[in-house]
Amino acid sequence: MGFKIEMIEKNVGLLIVLTLLTVSVGGLLEIVPLFFQHSTTEPVEGVKPYTPVQLVGRDVYIREGCYNCHSQMIRPFRSETERYGHYSVAGEFVYDHPFQWGSKRTGPDLARVGGRYSDQWQKVHLINPRDVVPESNMPGFYWLDRPATSSDIELKMKALRKVGVPYTDAEIAGAKKELEGKTELDCIVAYLQNMGTAIKDKR
Ligand code: HEC
Repeated sequence: MGFKIEMIEKNVGLLIVLTLLTVSVGGLLEIVPLFFQHSTTEPVEGVKPYTPVQLVGRDVYIREGCYNCHSQMIRPFRSETERYGHYSVAGEFVYDHPFQWGSKRTGPDLARVGGRYSDQWQKVHLINPRDVVPESNMPGFYWLDRPATSSDIELKMKALRKVGVPYTDAEIAGAKKELEGKTELDCIVAYLQNMGTAIKDKR
C-alpha cells in the first residue's frame, strides 16, 4: 500500500501537526533572511541617529499618542506615493526603537512630512490645528509649550546605544546642553521636520 493523501485528510491530528510544520518552516524561511539582508539592517544613505532634541520630540510623540491617528509608513501604491511621496523603505527605520509605522490613519501619513511646512506652521498647528486648517478635527496639544525634560536623556541614549544606535560618548555627554532652553514643542517639531527627509521625493 502506497502513500495516499487521504491518510492525512482523514486524520485531523496528523493534518494539524503537518499544517503547523509547513507554516512554521515557510514562515522561518521568509522571516529569517530579513535579519541578514543589508537593505533591511543598514541605514539608507542620509539617515542619522536622532539628535537629543529630536529624540525627546519622538518620546513626546509617543507619549501624546500621535500614532493613534497617524501612520509613518507609505505603501508602494500609486495612490499613496502620489499623495505622500516616495514609499517607505526598511533602511529608513534602523534607528527607530520601537518604530512608529502604525496603520491607523485618522489623519494623514506623516512618513514624509519633514520640510513640508515651516516650523512656525507646525507649532501653530500643534497648539490649535484649526488656526491653520479650519476643517481639522485633530485635537490641540497646547500644553506642549513647556520646558522639555532633559534629566534622563543620557540614560535614554545609552539604552539606544545598547540596541545598536551608534551614539558616541561625546554626543551623550553633550546631550543635556543641546536641550537647554528647549520646549517640548521645539522638540516635537524638530522630530517632525526630520521625518522621511533622507529619501527625497522623486515625483
Ligand atoms: C484624533 C486624531 C489625531 C491625533 C491624536 C493627532 N492628529 Fe495630527 N492630524 C489629524 C487629522 C485629522 C489631520 C488632518 C487635518 C489637519 O491638518 O489638521 C492631522 C494633521 C496633522 C499634520 C499635518 C499633516 C499634513 O501632511 O498635512 C501633522 C504634522 C500632525 N497632524 C501631527 C500630529 C502630531 C505630532 C500629533 C501628536 C502630538 C497628532 N498629529 C495627533 C488627526 C490627529
